[in-house]
Amino acid sequence: MAVKGIQDINIKDKRVFFRFDFNVPLDSSGQVGDDTRLRRALPTLRYAKEQGARCILASHLGRPKGERRPELTLQPVASKLSQLLDVPVNFVPDCIGVEVSGAVGRLRSGELLLLENLRFYPGETKNDPTFASRLADLAEVYVNDAFGTAHRAHASTVGVPILLTQKAAGFLMKEELDNLGRALENPVRPVVALFGGAKVSDKLAILSHFVRTLDSVLIGGGMANTFLRAKGLAVGVSKVEDDMLETAHEILQEAQKAGCRVLLPQDVVVATSIENPGRVSTVGVTAIPSDSMALDIGPQTIHEFTREIQRAATLIWNGPMGVFEEDAFAKGTNDIAQAVAASEAFSLVGGGDTIRAVRKAGVESRVSYISTGGGAFMEFLEGKKLPGVEALES
Ligand code: 3PG
Repeated sequence: MAVKGIQDINIKDKRVFFRFDFNVPLDSSGQVGDDTRLRRALPTLRYAKEQGARCILASHLGRPKGERRPELTLQPVASKLSQLLDVPVNFVPDCIGVEVSGAVGRLRSGELLLLENLRFYPGETKNDPTFASRLADLAEVYVNDAFGTAHRAHASTVGVPILLTQKAAGFLMKEELDNLGRALENPVRPVVALFGGAKVSDKLAILSHFVRTLDSVLIGGGMANTFLRAKGLAVGVSKVEDDMLETAHEILQEAQKAGCRVLLPQDVVVATSIENPGRVSTVGVTAIPSDSMALDIGPQTIHEFTREIQRAATLIWNGPMGVFEEDAFAKGTNDIAQAVAASEAFSLVGGGDTIRAVRKAGVESRVSYISTGGGAFMEFLEGKKLPGVEALES
């Protein structure tokens, strides 16, 4: 069933409960460290204000586990939003109760009120019906713009929309669903996925799904070591997930059956330590010294991966190709970011480390779409239905 967009419903003068994902990093002084998620919410906020909605803004921040944790207050988010929108964003230090109902009752059309962290109550993550109904009682209309939290079946993402019949997706939620759908549901082929990062186990479900459905899967980063080991190669002291060797082997077999090309590194950049790299060298994957670990993909691999990227009509990228935070091991990730940016394919990037890598390479504006989702992005890639999206459909 299609999800309605905020423009499809009447929000004028209505009390609207907006679920956003304002789960942003805070800096050492407790202020918003990275405001990307706030900026991505601005189109919905501006539209709601212009339409004259009485805006109740709700989010979680961190994982306070049902306790009031002062360091996880959303107050700094209210200040930052107010600065970004150039209008007052009022803050109420709770998300249910008399003080909140009073503040909501006083809201005039076009005004914004941010509630305190939903996860200060255990009922939020438990999707407790009583907690959900206390939130739902605040509003007449529900709008979910929190794609990053759509994989959580929580009170504010599932419980509240069940109770409010008027509901819709915000602009960011719609944009995420459209772009992720474009890459995954009906993509232009060939579709090439690039995976990196430390662990096979984190991406197992996605890899199994992708080797059955995509044209090529390129594997770099730490997880490539487990695949190389599964193929019988000695990888020195590189981190290998021993309990994943059998699974890695099965994934390679599944890929072969399905006709999916899996590219693993042919050469790697090695050193005896990350912190103190000293002697850094490039070797073929059959010649990794016994005292060394693979910390980046080598030039031959960059060349082969780039060629495959150039063939793609759709590209999906999650996970760096090496320890890109260290200059000595950043070339693989950086060159791959450049190749993705230069490609004419529709390119979709997601995940915190990958977004940092794209920014570090200075190519953010040349990627077709950067998802704000972490876990939600990964679950979408796995082909799972996201409860927060399903709740908007029902
Ligand atoms: C995220 O940052 O991925 C979302 O805000 C969800 O946060 P969570 O993993 O704590 O539910």
